[in-house]
Amino acid sequence: MGRVFVSRRVQGGALDTLVAAGHEVDLWPGELPPPPEALVEHLAGADAAMTMVTDRFSSALLATSARLKVIANVAVGYDNVDPAEASAAGIWLTNTPGVLAETTADHTFALLMAAARHVVASDRDTRAGGWKTWSPTAFLGSDVHHATLGIVGLGEIGQAVARRAAGFAMKVLYTGRMPHPDRERALNAEWRTLPELLAQSDFVSLHASLNPESRHLIGAPQLAAMKRSAILVNTSRGQVVDQDALVAALQGGWIGGAALDVTDPEPLPLIHPLYASPNVIITPHIASASFDTRSRMAAMAAANVVAVLEGREPPNPVNRPPRPRA
Ligand code: DGY
Repeated sequence: MGRVFVSRRVQGGALDTLVAAGHEVDLWPGELPPPPEALVEHLAGADAAMTMVTDRFSSALLATSARLKVIANVAVGYDNVDPAEASAAGIWLTNTPGVLAETTADHTFALLMAAARHVVASDRDTRAGGWKTWSPTAFLGSDVHHATLGIVGLGEIGQAVARRAAGFAMKVLYTGRMPHPDRERALNAEWRTLPELLAQSDFVSLHASLNPESRHLIGAPQLAAMKRSAILVNTSRGQVVDQDALVAALQGGWIGGAALDVTDPEPLPLIHPLYASPNVIITPHIASASFDTRSRMAAMAAANVVAVLEGREPPNPVNRPPRPRA
């Protein structure tokens, strides 16, 4: 029997699972994330937390959350918590691998195609009365079929994107920390170094998790190395791209466009120059947001909470605290 702080209303029956397992749920009622002082207050009395990527756990917060045994992120990413600090505090950190790759790949492809074929801009123009006639030259875009797609990070999501690319007869290149010969064969993908991939791709799709190595992986030199017609797609984390450099690249015509589900910061302030840059699509970090996938993510987080509160190892650990809190 424990008290579980849940930092946002979640999809599906995850909260019922917690209650059925005998736990008390303290649900944050707001649409917006709990502010830092509310997190401190609610976590001080919590045995477990079901949290979102928007809930930042500083070392001070870990220290004041004296009863906390598990942080169950409703996300595969966990850049809101330092796993080493959680381990040192004796707190399990868990995530939701495996369930969101296909849904995120769907959105990646939606963004890629929307940017290639001006779906958002032409819709806006049509609503504003811009559709005067069939035009032989309006909204000309780039072909997706038979184009070259460069995937940065051939993990679960990158592989799911590569499978979709096959249906469009795209040539698939990939890069990452190391080559994956087995995945290459299965996906008909070819390994390239990052500079090679950037120079050869018509679309570059980012699927790197955020860590000190991947922060600003795509900066001015990388953007300058891309084809002038290339479109950058980012459904990973905003900080993987140096956003000031991206603005310069778009405004300077170094690349053809960008389709972003993630920005730095989030939400992106409305005065940000990215909004005024040519051929940019921005969606509000919704790549995993299908009814089914968000239900599955919440259900996994609840299962992780229940396991830890019953004294078992969680099914999806990110860390392994040497002395888990009892
Ligand atoms: C994740 O799971 O890390 C996503 O970014 C949140 O949907």
